[in-house]
Amino acid sequence: MTGQELRNKFLQYFKDRHHTVVASYTLVPKNDPTLLFTNAGMVQFKDIFLGDEKREYTRAVTVQKCVRAGGKHNDLEMVGRTSRHHTFFEMLGNFSFGDYFKKEAIAFAWELLTENYSIPEEKLWITVFKDDDESETIWREDIGVPAERISRLDEEDNFWTMGDTGPCGPCSEIYYDHGPEIEGSPPAIGSDPGDRFVEIWNLVFAQFDRSQDGSLSPLPSPCVDTGLGLERMAAVLQGKHSNFETDLFTPLIKDAAKFCGTKDLNNPSLKVISDHLRASAFLVADGVSASNEGRGYVLRRIIRRALRHANKLGAEKPVMSSMVPTLVKQMSDAYPILKKN
Ligand code: SER
Repeated sequence: MTGQELRNKFLQYFKDRHHTVVASYTLVPKNDPTLLFTNAGMVQFKDIFLGDEKREYTRAVTVQKCVRAGGKHNDLEMVGRTSRHHTFFEMLGNFSFGDYFKKEAIAFAWELLTENYSIPEEKLWITVFKDDDESETIWREDIGVPAERISRLDEEDNFWTMGDTGPCGPCSEIYYDHGPEIEGSPPAIGSDPGDRFVEIWNLVFAQFDRSQDGSLSPLPSPCVDTGLGLERMAAVLQGKHSNFETDLFTPLIKDAAKFCGTKDLNNPSLKVISDHLRASAFLVADGVSASNEGRGYVLRRIIRRALRHANKLGAEKPVMSSMVPTLVKQMSDAYPILKKN
């Protein structure tokens, strides 16, 4: 299944379940000084969660372009070291604004993964927040996941917050087991699952608003905010261990290898270059220019890091501009889902 088929299947599944398809939000959040970049699907719905805005729908589905390269969620230094981290990625998400809650969100996710995407049940592992008995009961009794594949984690892993302030709540995550030939251990408190057990979908049960002093007040109604990583799912469905081996990345990796004069397609620098080029292209398209401060400075750091890795591989001429045709194709493939609004 190609990345594009994966996106379409996700949208269709939730459309069939009365969700309104909403276009991706810009990477530069409007009127939200608390965030550098749109870092999750829920960003464009923040005011609905807080009860400050009403729309004509209570269920939504999106394919959201995200950047995690600055602020609370920052994966910049992880890129190239793992098979699954990115500065720019797409998040497939379904949302409930005071409509359905845990039971339906969990049932939707399980049905879509195991029936529509045909992932074998035994490949999926579950985490829940340490105090969330209700979610664990739903996973065990309604869905039938055996207790040994469910773990309880603490705030660090299973309490999602968009930034220092804003909507937040306990979450339940679904992991995919890439198999014993990859290093890693099942999710547990304080452990790094490595690349074997990869978190693919986060179901957030948004119930609180965190204020500047850290205190939590209840949202007007409990909401659901989920995020399934497109690139991680593409790896699962294309039988690859690394996101960088999927159709979302291979054209860029091949181009980068050609321009840098290397034949080793597994070289970590190619991951860095391809990831950072995607991030730079999408940030520039959303109006960010390289500068000495704020968002522009983050873009500058991303470009610099890509160039450093290109130099490391021995690139003699600027790699970035030579790769523009591949990037333009990738951006137009993603259109209209990634169109600006
Ligand atoms: N907001 C949650 C996340 O980013 C779920 O979408 O993981």
